[in-house]
Amino acid sequence: MKYGYFDPEKREYVIDKPDTPAPWANYLGSPAYGAIISNNAGGYSFVKSGAAGRLIRYRFNEQDRPGRYVYLRDDEDGDYWSASWQPVGKPLNQYKSICRHGTGYTQIEADYKDIHSQALYYVPQDADYEVWKVKVTNSGNKARKISCFGFVEFTCESFYEQDQVNLQYTQFITRTYFKEKFILQTINENCLNAVNESRVDTRFFALAGAKVATYCGDRAAFLGKYRDYGNPVSVENGKLDGTLNYNMNPCGALHTAFDLAPNETKEFVFLLGQKREAQANEIVSRYEDTSLPEKEIDKLKTYWHSRLANLKVNTPDDNFNNMINTWNAYQCFITFVWSRAASLTYCGQRNGYGYRDTVQDIQGIIHLDPEMALEKIKFMISAQVNHGGALPLVKYSHNPGHEDKPEDESYRKSTGHPSYRADDALWLFPTVWKYVAETGNAALLDEVIPYADKGKDTLFNHLKKAIGFSLNNLGIHGLPAGLHADWNDCLRLGAKGVSVFVALQLYYAFEIMIRFAKYKKDSATEKEMTKQKDRFGKIIEERCWKDDRFVRGITEHDVTVGKKGDPEANIWLNPQSWAVISGYADEARGKAILDLVHKELNTKYGARIMSPSYRKHAFDGALALLFNPSTKENGGIFLQTQGWIILAEALLGRGARAVEYYLESCPAAQNEIADTRLMEPYAYSQFTESVDSPFEGRSHVHWLTGTASTVMVGSVEGILGLRPDIDGLRLSPAIPSSWKSFTMEKSFRGKKLNIKVNNPDGHESGCKKLTVNGTVVEPQPSPQGEGSPLEGDYIPASILKQENEIVLDM
Ligand code: GLC
Repeated sequence: MKYGYFDPEKREYVIDKPDTPAPWANYLGSPAYGAIISNNAGGYSFVKSGAAGRLIRYRFNEQDRPGRYVYLRDDEDGDYWSASWQPVGKPLNQYKSICRHGTGYTQIEADYKDIHSQALYYVPQDADYEVWKVKVTNSGNKARKISCFGFVEFTCESFYEQDQVNLQYTQFITRTYFKEKFILQTINENCLNAVNESRVDTRFFALAGAKVATYCGDRAAFLGKYRDYGNPVSVENGKLDGTLNYNMNPCGALHTAFDLAPNETKEFVFLLGQKREAQANEIVSRYEDTSLPEKEIDKLKTYWHSRLANLKVNTPDDNFNNMINTWNAYQCFITFVWSRAASLTYCGQRNGYGYRDTVQDIQGIIHLDPEMALEKIKFMISAQVNHGGALPLVKYSHNPGHEDKPEDESYRKSTGHPSYRADDALWLFPTVWKYVAETGNAALLDEVIPYADKGKDTLFNHLKKAIGFSLNNLGIHGLPAGLHADWNDCLRLGAKGVSVFVALQLYYAFEIMIRFAKYKKDSATEKEMTKQKDRFGKIIEERCWKDDRFVRGITEHDVTVGKKGDPEANIWLNPQSWAVISGYADEARGKAILDLVHKELNTKYGARIMSPSYRKHAFDGALALLFNPSTKENGGIFLQTQGWIILAEALLGRGARAVEYYLESCPAAQNEIADTRLMEPYAYSQFTESVDSPFEGRSHVHWLTGTASTVMVGSVEGILGLRPDIDGLRLSPAIPSSWKSFTMEKSFRGKKLNIKVNNPDGHESGCKKLTVNGTVVEPQPSPQGEGSPLEGDYIPASILKQENEIVLDM
């Protein structure tokens, strides 16, 4: 069953059947004032932290309740409904609803009994409050009397967990007031007179552009006894009884009533935020002009659409186009900005940036907004510890040069992270490389940036130290130690156990350092890195390759994980894909291991992280055993890893395979099987249940996942073949033979590239001829000196004009 479709022109996903298999969400605002909203207006808002700044309630893992509710009532016959299908939930043969999730806004339209309503939800650009613009139109031919009620359920206090469980305290610290245009909620208000005024929070829920007829600030009075959000007694009665809360549960509920002649429309605005009374008054008075929201929405669209405009593709596959042009790109920005802060799964308790997650998230937006990426790159570099390791969790309050670290009890206490991860700092190499290659800004390497704890250094030396950290933390056989864990949170190989994934990441890091050292003409570093790379290459060969595959790791008790013939977990995806990505595996071996992956791990919804799932033969430290088979790290389809297998296949020039993996796990391509997938068809989730599960194909943990960026990289660098380096751009698409042509518009270092790829003979990769502005580009010598001449698919940046017509004949 399908519930909606993409509108590529407007960059919207349109849900025309509201009974979606799960709440399908969108993000409004930013973590400064964040709002998550479902297609049925469920969700919550917070200031700065989902866990510590919660403004309105949401009950996780329930029926998507409550939310930002607008109720409508026919004052002649008493019938009532909601502007989103839920919470009232009128029969769908009488009630029509269309929800448009857009970039930073969500609009829900409804038609019921000749009344058309539109509720447009957003957080204005750079603002810290939210707006619900409501329009109600009489689409029938007789005059109507309508009441409209706006409702939010405030939390009793900002700490989500306290609000949920510590009722003996939280229910006795809050009260509400009516202030003509709004309900004002106060928390700990007596402290206004105390020394510590900062304890006091005040929130408001307002109505602008219409007159408040009746109001209520007490949830029990609003809902009535033994009732729910779907049948509040006050809406049923057509009026709010003016009860204000004093202890117990507050709410904001405002009612306005009006007559509507045929075709007449009434417009007004509900507003919500955490503000003192004077500020609330100021905000409300601005929105008395009900045309303000249109202007603000235009501004939001301009902001977002210009972020997304730097790459536009038109391939024969609409699912691919919709994801790359809008939805995967938008999700990359959302994960970039929000990290793992808050969703309908994450309640916001992770109070900081996970190092590896964030450094990977950056990769997803480099091709779209390298300057935004740069700021975060520097920030993350400043969270590297002076000895080269990285803070596993970077606090939102990060203060470079003055931070405590996993060695310190205080860090362990405040973050819950007891030690270093083996991979964290190694993610800097692909990320910094991608930024420098996209922009040509190699001067960044010489920029001095502080360490988290003490001292400062050039970025180049930061990178050297990251390598030093791995070299100083070797485990058995001289390979990088697994430490607390590597990318896979569930692999505890032991302090001296070793991770093959990390060994391959380190191998790749040497390669990136060699490129940078060549560019900087730093032959000492180049020599040292080459020496180390060769040395590690030999150990990898000796210890990590067994029979026909790369193993996953060796525990500190010298047990090899991921060997052929093991009863469980005998083949793992990441060491195979990363053997190719890191450049370790040559073409022949690369193809052989990826063929094995395809045979052993591929399923109709993507490649599994490993197989068979652990049941009885897990080593001590294989935490994946905790999960049901084919779930998450225990043999599920961990979607983040799909980006790597897509990239690896594309690097080998096997476009059909790359796109096969792409489409198997692509949300848009699962639009028609939404009841199987459950999660949004426009956003990646963390994993999909696989073959061992009775619910194969069901996906979980929506939106805030590293999948967004790895699949973006796999698509842009891999499938589309846009592979910049410091001096130019290589154009090496890897596509299915059925793609006979496609186009791309790309901004590159302030210039415009209009790229046309022709593939009349149905190749999967390769280049017969490359033409730039009418001139055939001949094969170039490799810009960083040595090696074979580059093939004819390379465009030196020096020949680019302001606008360029580029044709690649495959
Ligand atoms: C989750 C974590 C991420 C980890 C991955 C694999 O996505 O956020 O840090 O790499 O799981 O275990």
